[in-house]
Amino acid sequence: DCISSHRTLRLPGLIDTHVHVREPGQTHKEDFASCTAAALAGGVTIIGAMPNTHPPVVDKDSLTLAQKCARAGARCDYGLYLGASETNASTLPLLSPQSLALKMYLNTTFSTLQLPSMETWMKHFEKWPSSRPLCVHAEGETMAAVLLLADLYKRPVHVCHVARKEEISVIRAAKERGLPVTCEVCPHHLFLCNEDVVTIGTGRSEVRPVLCSRDDQQALWDNLDIIDCFATDHAPHAVSEKDSSSPPPGFPGLETMLSLLLTAVAEGRLTHQDIILRLHTNPRKIFGIREQPDTYVDVDIDEEWTIPSSLPHSKSKWTPFAGRRVVGRVTRVVLRGEIAYIDGKVLVEPGFGEDVMLQPAASPPSLPSPSSPPRTKHPSYVEPGSRSPRKQRV
Ligand code: NCD
Ligand code: ZN
Ligand code: ZN
Ligand code: ZN
Repeated sequence: DCISSHRTLRLPGLIDTHVHVREPGQTHKEDFASCTAAALAGGVTIIGAMPNTHPPVVDKDSLTLAQKCARAGARCDYGLYLGASETNASTLPLLSPQSLALKMYLNTTFSTLQLPSMETWMKHFEKWPSSRPLCVHAEGETMAAVLLLADLYKRPVHVCHVARKEEISVIRAAKERGLPVTCEVCPHHLFLCNEDVVTIGTGRSEVRPVLCSRDDQQALWDNLDIIDCFATDHAPHAVSEKDSSSPPPGFPGLETMLSLLLTAVAEGRLTHQDIILRLHTNPRKIFGIREQPDTYVDVDIDEEWTIPSSLPHSKSKWTPFAGRRVVGRVTRVVLRGEIAYIDGKVLVEPGFGEDVMLQPAASPPSLPSPSSPPRTKHPSYVEPGSRSPRKQRV
């Protein structure tokens, strides 16, 4: 438990741009209320909600439905993704001001939105406003094809959940040649590999991209300088589903990401600035999200704990990280001036969360330059070192 000699680190509100909320349609897996409670418990104050719901978010009616669910259920702020389909390339741009980004599913995964035709990919690359993010689930050679389209259509592309050495190598080469590409990496690809499947279990280990080799995992750490964002790809499924004969792919991650990353800091593999850059500064720039006023996350960076078999807030009552010893835990989250989370308890009700796209003055996105360190230190970042928790407001 917290004792006064433990050090407090103050972080800005974290932005997780890759979250599967499952509402509407699969609320036995998760819903806005449970998902955003999990987010706050993990220090996340803005989630990007993925469109592979039931129905998927692909047009005005389904977006209106998703907005209604989010408005009623969300406890933290959020932005909603639109999903690319075979038929909506010319109509989606009209909805772009109300959405965080466009998502294109280009490989097989837990989604009905997979786009088999490269001609459809081209239409979306052509039509979606180049000022708004275009995010892709594109693995291996598919990702290389997407980078060609980004070059042909002269528009930015954001690659979701990069997991393999070959993928991060191509992204490095593309960035070195000035292609407008950004990418994210998930905690499970940083902290797990296919050698962990025996411990986690075969069905539960199902995730897309799959858990790759130890070499692939190491390559992500070796190329940290070109990884723009961390994102959970929080993809909750029920234990009964994960343990069935056809387990759906996906891991929950919101309640464990920050502690895993802080543990890497304690081990000297990462810095606090690395976390702030990839979970706040860069997501804000890439997605054009304005600063949340009066918002911060306090972390006890000395608290050691063992990740239990399931975390308190997500409906997915399991985690691939069960039994792992970590150091660092969120003690308090202040969101737009309200104490949203304190010592294990979520204090804000469903409905407190706001749509970041419906708030005024969302700033236009701009590409970060992760190779150069941020010019100014984030104002709400408090250097650790003091033995007494700091009370400084931002
Ligand atoms: C995601 C899901 O369950 O929605 N699953 C996963 O394994 N990552 C879909 C996805 O992000 O590809
Ligand atoms: Zn403590
Ligand atoms: Zn995906
Ligand atoms: Zn996903």
